[in-house]
Amino acid sequence: MRQGFDSFLEASRKRVEQQLQHCLPQSGNKLPLNAALRYSTLDQGKRIRPCLVYAAAHALGPINRDIDFVAAAVELIHCYSLIHDDLPAMDDDDLRRGRPTCHIAYDEATAILAGDGLQALAFEQLTQLTIVSPTTALSLIRELAQAAGATGMVKGQAMDLFATDTAVDLAYLEAMHLHKTGDLIVASISMGAQSNACIDPQTLEKLRAYGRAIGLAFQVKDDILDNEGNTAVLGKQAGADQRHNKSTYTSLLGNEGAKEMLNLLHKQAITALEQFDGRADHLRSIADFIVNRNY
Ligand code: IPE
Ligand code: IPE
Ligand code: MG
Ligand code: MG
Ligand code: MG
Repeated sequence: MRQGFDSFLEASRKRVEQQLQHCLPQSGNKLPLNAALRYSTLDQGKRIRPCLVYAAAHALGPINRDIDFVAAAVELIHCYSLIHDDLPAMDDDDLRRGRPTCHIAYDEATAILAGDGLQALAFEQLTQLTIVSPTTALSLIRELAQAAGATGMVKGQAMDLFATDTAVDLAYLEAMHLHKTGDLIVASISMGAQSNACIDPQTLEKLRAYGRAIGLAFQVKDDILDNEGNTAVLGKQAGADQRHNKSTYTSLLGNEGAKEMLNLLHKQAITALEQFDGRADHLRSIADFIVNRNY
């Protein structure tokens, strides 16, 4: 573990949690919607995507106030994607972040609406950027839209549904993982970097290459944990992929093959950061965390 990483993680989580607390509507009216929005967003979750926003920004200079809005935006998209991913029509899961999934705690219609609400709120957060130029703000909004929508995460989720009960090859699986999980991770890094500095295209491309490697690694590790992990530690049902006959890295390559792939991706991620100085150490530590985590 590199020096200062634990306190960086803690500080990043605190910052984004505060922003999320602040931007989510208060519960307290008769509708369950606001309570569902808060339930699915606050207090739990590793907050890896916001940490990547802060770490990428930190790699290039000091953190400014705009970064909090970007960090909240990517986490809101992620939380929305989890609510919808768990729905009966998708993965039909009943446990998330150690608690009943949103549609179990509330009801299915409320869960669909809570996801919709979080997605809109994510983009609203990006309208509050004041330090970056309006042109940069617009390009960040475009980047998040492309990463979240039908060219990104949503496309990956559609590919995942298609690959359920159907055998696919490794190239398909890689594309599916890169979209469903990698695209939002790459966007988190890229948006964090661009909201901090006037960054040259070569530097940005290196950060994005790091992001593609850890984005894919993140989902490969998620597949391994589904197979080998422990429900109580994971906070979600272990073994769900096999039960649902999902195509995953472990179903295609076996546990050992998936772990080899994971190590290769970790090396690729570290190599992509070769020319960065010590300010990129938090990014390096996040790559380590992703491959070593047990939840
Ligand atoms: C789970 O993401 C869904 C995937 C993309 C694999 P995380 O493992 O980041 O979930 P939380 O936010 O920590 O609950
Ligand atoms: C979900 O992948 C990726 C998303 C876009 C939410 P998984 O279906 O493997 O995520 P978990 O295992 O339910 O967290
Ligand atoms: Mg899924
Ligand atoms: Mg799932
Ligand atoms: Mg999974």
